Amino acid sequence: MSPFLRFDGKVVLVTGAGGGLGKEYALAFAERGASVVVNDLGGDIKGEGKSSSAADKVVEEIKAKGGKAVANYDSVENGDKLVQTALDAFGRIDIVINNAGILRDRSFARTSDLDWDLIHRVHLRGSFMVTRAAWNHMKSQRFGRIIMTSSAAGIYGNFGQANYSAAKLGLLGLSNTLAIEGNKYNIHCNTIAPTAGSRLTQTVMPPDLLESLKAEYVAPLVLWLCHESCEENGSLFEAGAGWIGKLRWERTQGAIVRHKNQEMTPEAVRDNWETVCDFRNANKPQNIQESITTLVDVLSRVDTENLSANPTSAMASTSTTGIDPAQAVGQKLPEMVFTYSQTQCILYALGVGMSTKDPDHMKFLFEGHEEFSCLPTFGVIPSQASMMDGGLAAVPGFNFDFTKLLHGEQYLELYKPLPTSGKLTSQATIADVLDKGSGAVILLDVHTYDEKDLLCYNQFSLFIVGAGGFGGKRTSEKAKGTVNPPNRPPDAVMTDETSRDQAALYRLSGDWNPLHIDPSFAAMGGFKKPILHGLCSFGFAARHVLKQYADNDVLQFKAIKVRFVKPVIPGQSLQTEMWKEGNRVHIQTKIKETGDVVLAGAYVDLKGTLDKTAAKEPSVQAGGLQSDLVFAEIGRRIKDVGKDLVKTVNAVFQWEITKDGNNAAQWTIDLKNGSGLLYKGAPQAKADVTFSLSDEDFMEVVLGKLNPQKAFFAGKLKVKGNIMLSQKLETILKDYAKL
Ligand code: NAI
Repeated sequence: MSPFLRFDGKVVLVTGAGGGLGKEYALAFAERGASVVVNDLGGDIKGEGKSSSAADKVVEEIKAKGGKAVANYDSVENGDKLVQTALDAFGRIDIVINNAGILRDRSFARTSDLDWDLIHRVHLRGSFMVTRAAWNHMKSQRFGRIIMTSSAAGIYGNFGQANYSAAKLGLLGLSNTLAIEGNKYNIHCNTIAPTAGSRLTQTVMPPDLLESLKAEYVAPLVLWLCHESCEENGSLFEAGAGWIGKLRWERTQGAIVRHKNQEMTPEAVRDNWETVCDFRNANKPQNIQESITTLVDVLSRVDTENLSANPTSAMASTSTTGIDPAQAVGQKLPEMVFTYSQTQCILYALGVGMSTKDPDHMKFLFEGHEEFSCLPTFGVIPSQASMMDGGLAAVPGFNFDFTKLLHGEQYLELYKPLPTSGKLTSQATIADVLDKGSGAVILLDVHTYDEKDLLCYNQFSLFIVGAGGFGGKRTSEKAKGTVNPPNRPPDAVMTDETSRDQAALYRLSGDWNPLHIDPSFAAMGGFKKPILHGLCSFGFAARHVLKQYADNDVLQFKAIKVRFVKPVIPGQSLQTEMWKEGNRVHIQTKIKETGDVVLAGAYVDLKGTLDKTAAKEPSVQAGGLQSDLVFAEIGRRIKDVGKDLVKTVNAVFQWEITKDGNNAAQWTIDLKNGSGLLYKGAPQAKADVTFSLSDEDFMEVVLGKLNPQKAFFAGKLKVKGNIMLSQKLETILKDYAKL
């Protein structure tokens, strides 16, 4: 990111720039390389009179400092003339600051037609005329930044300013729509409500305040909003004295006061007034879709309403936030079957940031690796399928707005290492429902089985914003709690970058929520960009612990618990801090760039039996092949002396091991490349010689009990390729006769 915000090559039109705030903006843009059109009609504050001197003076000042500027003396009501000046002088128009303004303050009763019309003509119509004249130029160049100038008087109302307040808030409405229409052309429109000492405020502010609230304390906000690197669009800011704040709408949960086949009455409105106006659990609608969705939801609720329902019941307790623990707890979701192959394991590993850059990661990325394993946190994938399929929405007693569902916490415990392929069955149960006031928490327990064997247990804590207050309990003995880390600097820290496409990759493991890929969907949720899946950060953190404290041995993994605190944007770096206390590793994961904690109260429990040989044996035995043991040993030897073997042997060997007449394993020893490589599975390099024999005969040969030549002539051993190379095998195998 360039340290300095520059506007070289950009053409800026500032209206009403002959003094006050506009002048400050014009000077600031010019100082940072922009070419500026300084517009000012040069009238008095009531919009009367005309003069060119105000604009000329500012142009002179800019030029004296080496900047580029031209003056324009037209009224903003002739918007196209202002834009034409920009095109004539500089050939384009990139940024429009609608700033020109006048005041005609009167108490409402004394407001004349002229007072009303003049204010509207300059502020609202003027901003419209100027912006419309610039719009198509911005559209075709696919860049534009527009500022509308509103006022606290419009936002909050102010005595004696009915005309001005109306026009000023009208500008906000205009800006909101331009932000939507312009977005796809990279035209951003934002609104500011500034406060600064100027001739407009000199009648309403004491002189020393007028002096202290400098216009130069507002200009930096305007410059930032207009920079090409600023993504802000459709927002409203208050600014003054060096402070900037953003404003948005808040809406109560509200109440449904209409009922099926009944007349809607003012009495019902009166009787529900408290709920209509209750800002506890308020939501913050972001766009018109959210507003309409609420109404459509209400229509369907009223339509399907049971007539015996309480006729004046509030929305907060019976509709959008309706939760009935008595009905829901103990309910089972439909059983889910999840079938997967090694592809899904590898895809998941890539999804949580594993990379071939790190040799340690190969065992999770390469199916031919001798210790090919599935990451323990893959255990969340089969279980989440039960939720994703809408099973939750069908639970009796759950009548809430599913767009308000957040994934709050996750617990995963493994009872056995996850196979690298299989068909697993998950059974989800509503373990409990908690009332947290601002929302409800659903504890969803999911048990995942491989046939009859329980493989893993997940607990999803799902937070439903605004669905609290139904009078339920706050805690549950069934909840797997978070635990804070010890109060000392971390024992270890591990950092990993997420890639720009991390979420795009992770979602392929089964969480298809558009929030993680679709910018407009993310915007509806109030996010500037699609966010990373919480469970993706969870995967990063778990593998950090596995590497730091368990040598990437999946057999060491027992359980993990995390609380999701903040979203991560793909491309940010995740930094996991770790504290080891016995078999428990407390963790806290932060975004490195911002320091924001994203996973809190988290820990990984390890089995604490880290013994490499003990850990490896079961995986060797799992295949049921004795030859696997020999190859595992060969693998170790290649690690030690592979380089030397590459020099002396320089060939690729392949074995096809059969068991009971069926193909049981393929092994390749690659002593041509690098430091030597042994792997199981489909060969990646062309074999110079291939041996096919049964597991038993292989062992007999290795143990020296069966002569390979005899085996060959007896048809027990088949050889393809350069048979002479088999002599070199001795170099590799001779030490293992004792096995
Ligand atoms: P100002 O009076 O110093 O600047 C306004 C400029 O607009 C003047 O130079 C005037 O000649 C020019 N102008 C008026 N009618 C015009 C027209 N038809 N065409 C072209 N230029 C015209 O006032 P100030 O305070 O700098 O105000 C700038 C903007 O900020 C205005 O829109 C105002 O309503 C708004 N504002 C200012 C606040 C403050 O505390 N200063 C508070 C809230 C809003």
